[in-house]
Amino acid sequence: MRDPFKSTPYSPENVYYIGELLFRLPYRSRGLGRRLLTSMESHIRSLGSFHVIVCATVERPLDHPCRRHEYIPINNFLDRTGFVRLDGITTHFTWMEIDGARHNHTMQFWMKDLSQPCPQLNSPPQN
Ligand SMILES: CC(C)(COP(=O)(O)OP(=O)(O)OC[C@H]1O[C@@H](n2cnc3c(N)ncnc32)[C@H](O)[C@@H]1OP(=O)(O)O)[C@@H](O)C(=O)NCCC(=O)NCCS
Repeated sequence: MRDPFKSTPYSPENVYYIGELLFRLPYRSRGLGRRLLTSMESHIRSLGSFHVIVCATVERPLDHPCRRHEYIPINNFLDRTGFVRLDGITTHFTWMEIDGARHNHTMQFWMKDLSQPCPQLNSPPQN
């Protein structure tokens, strides 16, 4: 987790990593993800030592058999909530897939710069 950031201006001590955001299907696309992330961002800022928030997304084709048919690319959500893709900054995670085998995955990092003002919970989307 730390090594990919050695080539960036960000010290790992100032990087807050979000491992997962996951809602059950009926709760998706109702604005809850944006609200949760705004609350988390506010808390992370209050801790005082973090300059950026990062998360990582798995790199695989849209038609990959492990993607569910209802999948919406997570890039949409990250774009809408102010994250930018850190091209070339990746790592590898291994986990068991629904086929029962362990696979090694390339994970692409995304970043949100906390030097920008915090969005307000009741404010409309910015783009
Ligand atoms: C990704 C996830 C947490 C987003 O939460 P959400 O409550 O569905 O998102 P919101 O309703 O707040 O939508 C915010 C924006 O993201 C986009 N979006 C909406 N649903 C989305 C979805 N299911 N996947 C990706 N992007 C989505 C929309 O463009 C929306 O922007 P808009 O309001 O300007 O139209 C949720 O959809 C989810 O659990 N998805 C499956 C799990 C997943 O992929 N997790 C991420 C891996 S870490």
